[in-house]
Amino acid sequence: MISQQSIVNVIQSRYSCRSFNNSLIGEEIKGELNTFMANHNTGPFGTFSRFKIGVIESGGAILKRLNTYGFIKGADEYLVGAMPQNISHLELEEFGCVLENIILKATSLGLGTCWMGGTFRKSVFSKMIDLQKHETLPAVIAIGNPANKRGFTDTLIRRIAKADHRKPWKKLFFENNFQTPLLNAGSEAMNTALEMVRLAPSASNKQPWRIVKIDDVFHFYLCRTPGYKEQAFLEKTNRADLQRLDIGIAMSHLENTLLEENQRGKWDVVNPKIEVPNDGYEYKVSWVQN
Ligand SMILES: Cc1cc2nc3c(=O)[nH]c(=O)nc-3n(C[C@H](O)[C@H](O)[C@H](O)COP(=O)(O)O)c2cc1C
Repeated sequence: MISQQSIVNVIQSRYSCRSFNNSLIGEEIKGELNTFMANHNTGPFGTFSRFKIGVIESGGAILKRLNTYGFIKGADEYLVGAMPQNISHLELEEFGCVLENIILKATSLGLGTCWMGGTFRKSVFSKMIDLQKHETLPAVIAIGNPANKRGFTDTLIRRIAKADHRKPWKKLFFENNFQTPLLNAGSEAMNTALEMVRLAPSASNKQPWRIVKIDDVFHFYLCRTPGYKEQAFLEKTNRADLQRLDIGIAMSHLENTLLEENQRGKWDVVNPKIEVPNDGYEYKVSWVQN
């Protein structure tokens, strides 16, 4: 369990915070977050990641140079995560899931956070976590005490990314095939859990998650945004595949919501091999209800 607060409230109160108030995170809160990170560092299929919060002065200016699109103001602390470089199976998704769990914990402690995707291999962030040869650093999180008021650039970025907009249910959730929108997930808890997936953050707010319910199994697909971070580009620039992280974030929102409702289930790879609308769709993982 992430917090005593309802996870639905925590998810609803999270947003990408780009305006911080220049103060460091209080010792007690940092201690609680560090304990959580030490105990929640392994993904659903066993991939281990390590995390560290550290101070990087003028980190906002550094992020600007590292191809992240955010302009962070007033944050000196960053949360960095390292994971094994072998990402041929679901490791990146697992990393996204574990890191989003930490973000939800941070949100429940009153902290502001913002995911940052970029090229970090040789950056100060890699030094901060002493990145090893066999490891990769897929993302960095700006973290800290939120400012009372949003800065101008922050407001502008939110407008450009349409940050407060989410796709409707009928574009995201389906039953048996991709032609039939899912009207009811079968239980109040699952309806809420899917709504929490819909509110998840995603890179450039592209919301690439699609879920197909077949019997009692919820199959997660990645619907790649055309032209967005093509494989060749990712390899050339050493960037993580951010849309795979997005799938992991959706997994975190679904599982945490169901946990709170005592709805048991597990992650499994059971591709239903149904017809997909186009080549941009990739089956990823399934939530199998008990
Ligand atoms: C994997 C990932 C990478 C992101 N990278 C950046 C980034 O580099 N710069 C930035 O300002 N926001 C970044 N974001 C934040 C998204 O733009 C944001 O989640 C989305 O617009 C929805 O807004 P919300 O988080 O306020 O709900 C990223 C989000 C995710 C999930």
